[in-house]
Amino acid sequence: MLLDTFGRQAVDLRVSLTDRCNLRCTYCMPEEGLQWLAKPDLLTDEEIVRLVTLAVRDLGVREVRFTGGEPLLRPGLAAIVAACSELEPRPELSLTTNGIGLARTATALREAGLDRVNVSLDTLDPEVFLTLTRRRRHQDVLDGLAAAEAAGLAPVKLNAVLMRGVNDHEAADLLAWCLERGYELRFIEQMPLDAQHGWDRSSMVTAGEILELLRARFELTPESSARRGAAPAERWVVDGGPGRVGVIASVTRPFCRACDRTRLTADGQVRNCLFATGETDLRTALRSGADDAELAALWRAAMWGKKAGAGIDDPEFHQPERPMSAIGG
Ligand code: GTP
Ligand code: 5AD
Ligand code: SF4
Repeated sequence: MLLDTFGRQAVDLRVSLTDRCNLRCTYCMPEEGLQWLAKPDLLTDEEIVRLVTLAVRDLGVREVRFTGGEPLLRPGLAAIVAACSELEPRPELSLTTNGIGLARTATALREAGLDRVNVSLDTLDPEVFLTLTRRRRHQDVLDGLAAAEAAGLAPVKLNAVLMRGVNDHEAADLLAWCLERGYELRFIEQMPLDAQHGWDRSSMVTAGEILELLRARFELTPESSARRGAAPAERWVVDGGPGRVGVIASVTRPFCRACDRTRLTADGQVRNCLFATGETDLRTALRSGADDAELAALWRAAMWGKKAGAGIDDPEFHQPERPMSAIGG
């Protein structure tokens, strides 16, 4: 098991498959992109499958989520999913994507064994999309969403980050749009994980503000089982149901006490927290011939060192060196 000193157990593994992305969301990375990881430093498909197998068989992981950067940019994605879907006990397999490329790949991914997808979409307006992501790809995301639904990758969840003065006026429209289509929308508070280190608390749209924007048009009642397990989203029933909306308030209402996550970066480092300042190098161990027991011991030790929380409110808080796009959301 992957336990920490606060009694939490990590059962949810998030695997970043690449740090590259085909968008340039302003809250994530600069226009020119980043210094991408070098190919030899990336885990191979086989190395990823080996580590996921270890996590599922020996370390108690029950859910595996593939993230990026943009995970659909990884050519071996379907093969990795297929190999992971053969594992016993079979983990739940999901993907967090910006949706570009999903129109092409949704059916194959479903056939490979993917269970569901979370798609990022911050706006319904192609011009606002261009401002936010610096790319004219809005229609590709809409096509990707439709393909995911048609392929039976359900439930489809949508992630939206609101930026003040850019897309915050669209909060209620986004919810109406998702309710119509049966997508579960979650708003995410902007976190200090951007590569430019430009995050500023005063410009962040808070969960409180998001709820206020939504209440102007909808009646929201807290879901009785406020948060399911360790899910980061708090959920509200919309207009008496059956629709729901979630808010992931990592900054103003952190859910660290219930955190059940462990992370593997595309270059083979274990991170015990999104905001961890240190990492554990599994790649070097793996490439120097470590056996499963040695790798498992390293992974357990990494999680044992997990801190109580993200610590964004601590006066000494430092943003991690690795940006979100290289950690996996
Ligand atoms: P499900 O609820 O199981 O569908 O997944 P999820 O919401 O965990 O996955 P997703 O990849 O869609 O993540 C949505 C957002 O949740 C991420 O962008 C992060 O903002 C936030 N998040 C995910 N994991 C963590 C975490 O460990 N800590 C914090 N603070 N935020 C997280
Ligand atoms: N704060 C909050 N969410 C972010 N995402 C990317 N960068 C940030 C940030 N700084 C979101 C993406 C995607 C999810 C994986 O994380 O929009 O939906
Ligand atoms: Fe790409 Fe996701 Fe970053 Fe946007 S938030 S640039 S989609 S990695």
